[in-house]
Amino acid sequence: MVSVTVNDVGPRDGLQNQPKILAPAERVALVRALLKAGMRHVEVGAFVSPKAVPAMAGADEVLAGLANGEDNGAVFTVLIPNYKGYELATAAGAKSVCMVLYGSDAMAQANARMSREQAESATADILKQARTDGVRVTSTIAVAFACPFDGPVEPSLVEDIAGRFLELGTDELCIADTIGAANPRQVRSLTASLVGQHGPERISCHFHDTRAMGLANVFAAVESGIRKFDASIGGLGGCPFAPGASGNVATEDVVMMLEQMGFDTGIDLDGLMHASELAQELTGTAPGGRASAWLKRYLKRTGN
Ligand code: COA
Ligand code: ZN
Repeated sequence: MVSVTVNDVGPRDGLQNQPKILAPAERVALVRALLKAGMRHVEVGAFVSPKAVPAMAGADEVLAGLANGEDNGAVFTVLIPNYKGYELATAAGAKSVCMVLYGSDAMAQANARMSREQAESATADILKQARTDGVRVTSTIAVAFACPFDGPVEPSLVEDIAGRFLELGTDELCIADTIGAANPRQVRSLTASLVGQHGPERISCHFHDTRAMGLANVFAAVESGIRKFDASIGGLGGCPFAPGASGNVATEDVVMMLEQMGFDTGIDLDGLMHASELAQELTGTAPGGRASAWLKRYLKRTGN
């Protein structure tokens, strides 16, 4: 069976934009529910300015809370927007960071008050330091298909950035449709080209479901050979600095689709539904997966 890895970004991308701010202990509880379902990759927070994103304050406490428990070798990643974020994250014990690159200047400015090139140069510095520190780095290209300010992004630009950061030795290169603007044909074309040039091992994708094409985009990418996806429990999510961005594609939908297609995610759907219910209980706003009603009926019937 071919394995596909799902990285749940709910505790970061999902929670950063919620009206209700969760305490670090509640975020730890959500991560633990995901681990219980067999999830082995979770983005657990962000080391960003608490003034810019109040919901991510206390990411150090989340990491500390997770350090005291059974994690079965799970990879806990934290998002960072700049070198200062790297320093804060590693001082708090992070072993895996996700640094943000951009398909446009306007998004780099809105998100991190940098130009696109400044973000690239900061990422190159972080990669160098991370190698010395033994820290894993994901380089995520945000707004890889379209920017809410500057419009469509040229695939050749994204391929150029991806090629350079793979060459620099990033452990993972994530193509992110931050505002959910991509269609499956664009996704198929870009991911097939990237997989053709670099192989699938270090490339992942991150889709939002703003225009109901999230799952179709996962399908297009998996058909091109991509074997790692970000998704968010309960479909939570949205970037506070990208107007119009809605939630990530829901983890429960992605896992259900991949498993039905014959891939092995190692994740238990029943456990995932419990995590999704907890996300809803904690936030009051998790929309749930599109297949939630069916999944609940099906799991009850099969006694899982
Ligand atoms: N974490 C925490 N604090 C940070 C920081 C980080 N990664 N980077 C900078 N800061 C602090 C500075 O030390 C400074 O603190 P002070 O006011 O106590 O002196 C303050 O933030 C402002 O710093 P400045 O360099 O002037 O930055 P800014 O106000 O232009 O904000 C960012 C820049 C990057 C810190 C801020 O925009 C940010 O955190 N963005 C993240 C956005 C995000 O999370 N988006 C969603 C995920 S893609
Ligand atoms: Zn996102």
